[in-house]
Amino acid sequence: MEKEIRAVILGAGKGTRMKSSKPKVLHEIFSKPLLGWVIDAISKIQFDVQSIVVIGFQAGYVEEYLNKNYMYAKTAFQKQQLGTGHAVAQAAPLLHDFNGDVIVICGDIPLITTNTLRELVHYHQRNDSDVTLMTAHLDDPSGYGRIIRDKADGIVKIIEDRDALDHIKEIQEVNTGIYCFKWESVKNAFSELDNNNSQEEYYLTDIIKWAKTRSLRVLGYEISDSSEIYGINSRQNLAHATKILKNRYLDELMSNGVTIVDPDTTYISPETTIEKDTIIYPNTYIEGKNIIARNCKIGPMTHIRGNCAVGEGSKIGNFVELKNARIAKNTRICHLSYIGDAQIGSNVNIGAGTVFANYNSITKEKRQSSLADGVSIGSNSVIVAPVEIQKDAFVAALSCVTKNIEESSLVMTRAAQKEIKNWVKMKKEIADNEFGN
Ligand code: UD1
Ligand code: CA
Repeated sequence: MEKEIRAVILGAGKGTRMKSSKPKVLHEIFSKPLLGWVIDAISKIQFDVQSIVVIGFQAGYVEEYLNKNYMYAKTAFQKQQLGTGHAVAQAAPLLHDFNGDVIVICGDIPLITTNTLRELVHYHQRNDSDVTLMTAHLDDPSGYGRIIRDKADGIVKIIEDRDALDHIKEIQEVNTGIYCFKWESVKNAFSELDNNNSQEEYYLTDIIKWAKTRSLRVLGYEISDSSEIYGINSRQNLAHATKILKNRYLDELMSNGVTIVDPDTTYISPETTIEKDTIIYPNTYIEGKNIIARNCKIGPMTHIRGNCAVGEGSKIGNFVELKNARIAKNTRICHLSYIGDAQIGSNVNIGAGTVFANYNSITKEKRQSSLADGVSIGSNSVIVAPVEIQKDAFVAALSCVTKNIEESSLVMTRAAQKEIKNWVKMKKEIADNEFGN
């Protein structure tokens, strides 16, 4: 790419149709806000693309999320939500002396991919365009702005769904809400738009007319996979987008040699990588960034919550939850266990019902435990962090481990088994004598 690019992400709206007290762009897919998906797609277009997020409704929460996760992102505050054109105008001062290309995108389109955005920028730069609008053909275009073209197929303007007459509503080519601008050419436009429309809003879409009047070059770039521009306006949309995202990724995994026994009931975030010949059994839910090596067996009914690594040939079985856990090769955690904040070696066997107690609810601290290669943990044990268990150590069932254990030791913390011979017979005899049964 020849020029530097920056992005303006629109996220000031309330998202009325979500019926929520939090801003729409903070609603989540696989525990990551919609805004995060959009920023991540943008930041990979080229090295270090800076995003400016326009915030407004519940701005404090959006800012907090950005500060925590995207330190490099900037924000522009839109006090009143007067429309998408007005929103871009609030970001314009931050681009005051910028002379590269600017992508403008709505913050509620989480399925957009880096590839598509990169193609848009390439197309824009290759054709020396001033305004490039990404369009899509939809079977059901309702709700979207419609693209009006002239006889020579050039884009003339966009008419919003709310302002469209019936014959315009039939047009299936829509505005995706994603634009690429040669910033120098359009930077003055945003404060010059008017609000003569049914909503009395400053529409960003009017930039097309503005540019046309000034004989600037306006081009349309049609996206090939229209599912990428699916916008979130309601909870129904959110559920549907989650399905599209995970099905797209499951398909990719299967193409790369991963077995997904039942795609319908399997949820895997695209941020998790899985190597070939691993089998994922039904009802598995994997979110966040994880790495699962080859020849593993995961599930059925496993929950992996992020920041986990599972080494080659390991098995994570039913009703096992993993969080922030590194597990080396050929280790077996087959049933009913919680493994959090742990480092686990290879050839380890963790018995059914093992719990890593990693959290102190008073100090709010999370502590790490580690198990070296060859360790065996008996069923129903609790590993109270922080502890280190050395190589080949053996923990007997029902132990509560609170101290470090040396190599090859046996640890047993339960009370010794006591047997009272003939106790039942004795009890029965007493009962017979007393009640004469
Ligand atoms: C917009 C487009 C429409 C396009 C559709 C694609 C306009 C006028 N219309 O319509 O042509 O087909 O997106 O999804 O641009 N926002 C602000 N400040 C505001 C208003 C909105 O930041 O004052 C943000 C919202 O938070 C949201 C985005 O802009 O992330 C889009 O707003 P929304 O109201 O959803 O626009 P649409 O009606 O979907
Ligand atoms: Ca929208």
